[in-house]
Amino acid sequence: MSDLMEKLVSLCKRKGFVFQSSEIYGGLNGCWDYGPLGVEVLRNIKESWWRSMTYREDIEGLDSSILMHARVWEASGHVAGFTDPMVEDKKTNERYRLDQLLEENGEDVNGMGLEAMIQRALESGLKSPKGNELSEARQFNLMFKTFVGPLEDDSARIFLRPETAQGIFVNYLNVQSSMRKKLPFGIAQIGKAFRNEITTKNFLFRTREFEQMEMQYFVKPGMQDKYFDYWREERWNWYSSIGLPENKLSWHEHQGDELAHYASAAFDIQYEFPFGSGEIEGIHNRSNFDLSQHEEFSGKKLKYFDEESREKYVPNVIETSIGASRTTMACLVNAYYEEDVKGDTRVVMRFHPQIAPMKVAVLPLVKRDGMPELAKKVTENLRRFFRVVYDDSGAIGRRYRRMDEIGTPFCVTIDSESLENATVTVRDRDTMDQQRVQITGLRSHIDAEMESWNLST
Ligand code: GAP
Repeated sequence: MSDLMEKLVSLCKRKGFVFQSSEIYGGLNGCWDYGPLGVEVLRNIKESWWRSMTYREDIEGLDSSILMHARVWEASGHVAGFTDPMVEDKKTNERYRLDQLLEENGEDVNGMGLEAMIQRALESGLKSPKGNELSEARQFNLMFKTFVGPLEDDSARIFLRPETAQGIFVNYLNVQSSMRKKLPFGIAQIGKAFRNEITTKNFLFRTREFEQMEMQYFVKPGMQDKYFDYWREERWNWYSSIGLPENKLSWHEHQGDELAHYASAAFDIQYEFPFGSGEIEGIHNRSNFDLSQHEEFSGKKLKYFDEESREKYVPNVIETSIGASRTTMACLVNAYYEEDVKGDTRVVMRFHPQIAPMKVAVLPLVKRDGMPELAKKVTENLRRFFRVVYDDSGAIGRRYRRMDEIGTPFCVTIDSESLENATVTVRDRDTMDQQRVQITGLRSHIDAEMESWNLST
């Protein structure tokens, strides 16, 4: 793990952002728990996405169940095709993804199918990371299997959803008719997805349980290229609102065999992680693949009736699919910053204020002379609008540093002057500059500062 990643993972645990799942039992690979601060960051990201996607005329929200009819995954192609190429170390029996091993060996596997990868592995004499012989590659299905009801036989076998999208497809006519939607319209959903990844690594980047934020946009056949371009631009522009700068983002276009079984075109938005560029979102042209498959497998008509042209047809779908957990990781990586202040290292999590877990800290300068009492009043007042933390323990400098480490954008300090003229100082996390502000004007001051932060990014 890189130096930065090690520092970040350690800070995440120490400060309550992210804990290892089932840690006291030695952990469960590929699963993480969001602590008190991590859950705030995750929720802020989800809220920002939800607002940008559903606070508009043409998109409705949905929360479909994780468990679905088994036939859904036959129709969607996941039973047959949702696989990764797996090889085994012949000595240790450890399992690896063939494409990842090839990449780690400097091979470009972009657009390569299984056969081509096997060929490349043979030609290059690929060995396991432990230097041992590898087994023959086979395709491994990533869906978690379970049983519904008390009988554990094939007829009761179902899957944990590997994407939230299918809940949207099977509900598209319910949403369309209940909300009287006309094409083009979209359905947005946030929820857990599960993939039995062969290898998990890089902290929250590749996990077995994660959260997705997906939107399916249903369009008239022929309009898919126009909306593909539209959604690529919309999605790219959203990232600045959560503080991920354009210079850390890039596009990656899927080629050939790299395209998922459902996609006729796909672009990823990648973030520059310490371990290299990694996909955080995919924008896919899914054509009418999923709806047509569900028509065939369910035997139910899923055609849209176009009142203008009096035609019936299966719409095409443009999908935007982003990992909430991966985006949280990108925001954590992006925020981590160290600087030298008078010979000391100051660690600052420079979150966008909208994403920061705590927006304001209220700090009485000393624990006497009525300062804690006034500080508690100020805290209660501000809590009606913001997530606020009250802290009166330790030297003020130490308290500022604690807030810097968790990325609190504003520290409000109550000092002796506050008791005399009802003013406080507001310290800016990034510049460390302080301004004196009337207590009655605190809320609008903080609002204005958050707003101007938006403008300056
Ligand atoms: N419905 C389309 C779909 O699921 P995907 O590219 O497989 O597309 C979309 O996944 C997003 O879900 C990815 O861009 C990533 O952010 C997130 N994601 C996928 N697998 C993940 C994993 N194992 N751990 C964390 N996030 C993951």
